Amino acid sequence: MLPGFGDTRRKLPWHLRKREEAPTFEYAFRPATRADLGDVREIYNHYVTNSVVTFDEKPSTLKYWQEKFDMLQKLGLPMIVAVSPNDQVLGYALVQPLSAKSAFRYSAENSIYLGPGATGKGLGAPLLDELITACRDADLREIIAVISDSGADASIKLHKKAGFKEVGRMGGVGYKFGRSLGTITMQKSLKEPKTKRFARRS
Ligand SMILES: CC(C)(COP(=O)(O)OP(=O)(O)OC[C@H]1O[C@@H](n2cnc3c(N)ncnc32)[C@H](O)[C@@H]1OP(=O)(O)O)[C@@H](O)C(=O)NCCC(=O)NCCS
Repeated sequence: MLPGFGDTRRKLPWHLRKREEAPTFEYAFRPATRADLGDVREIYNHYVTNSVVTFDEKPSTLKYWQEKFDMLQKLGLPMIVAVSPNDQVLGYALVQPLSAKSAFRYSAENSIYLGPGATGKGLGAPLLDELITACRDADLREIIAVISDSGADASIKLHKKAGFKEVGRMGGVGYKFGRSLGTITMQKSLKEPKTKRFARRS
C-alpha cells in the first residue's frame, strides 16, 4: 500500500456502498407478571410527565400498579407485556373494568403504552390484536378506548385499524399543562365470545 493511502481509499463512495440492513425489531408477547410492574410504571410515567395522551398528572407509584395488577388478576382481565428477546419490557396493554357497577361486567376499557424507544416500529398493532384475543378468551363483549383528542393520532389510527369505531366525543373535560383537553371514545364489539359466561364477576 502506498504511503498516505490507507484503508479509506478502498471504500466505495457512500452512494455505491451496500446499504446496511436495519436491525430487525424482535418482540414477543406474554402475560404480565408482578416483576414487570416497575418497567410498566416507568413506561406509563413517561407519558404522564411528557404528554397529554393520559390525563394523569402525577407519576404513578409501584403500589398503584401492584394493586391494579392484583385487581385484574382477580377479575381475570388480561394484562400483556411486549418484550424484547432478552425479556426487556417494550410496552404493555391491559383492560380494566369500565365501571365498578356489576352490570358492566362484560365491558372493559383498554390501555396501551409502548416505551418511547418502541413506538413507530409496528409493535402497537400486533400488541392490540393480542389484547383483543385475550379479551375474547376472557369472554368480554365490548372494549372501550377513551383517547385524548390531542397528541394521540397514532392511537386513534391504531384503534380504527383494529376495528374500533368512534362512538362519542367530550370536549374540554380535561385540563393539563395549562390547556383544555377532550376525549374521543371508541368501541369494539367482540361479536363471537368463545363461551357464554353468565356468571357475575366479583
Ligand atoms: C399509540 C401506540 C400504542 C401506537 O403504536 P405504534 O406501534 O407506535 O404505532 P405506529 O407507529 O405503527 O402508528 C400507528 C399508525 O398511526 C400513524 N401515526 C403515527 N404517528 C402519527 C401522527 N402523529 N399523526 C397521524 N398518524 C400517526 C402511523 O403512520 C400508523 O399508521 P399506518 O399503520 O397507516 O402506517 C404507541 O405509539 C404509543 O404507545 N404511544 C404513546 C402512548 C399512547 O399514546 N398510548 C395510547 C393512549 S390512548
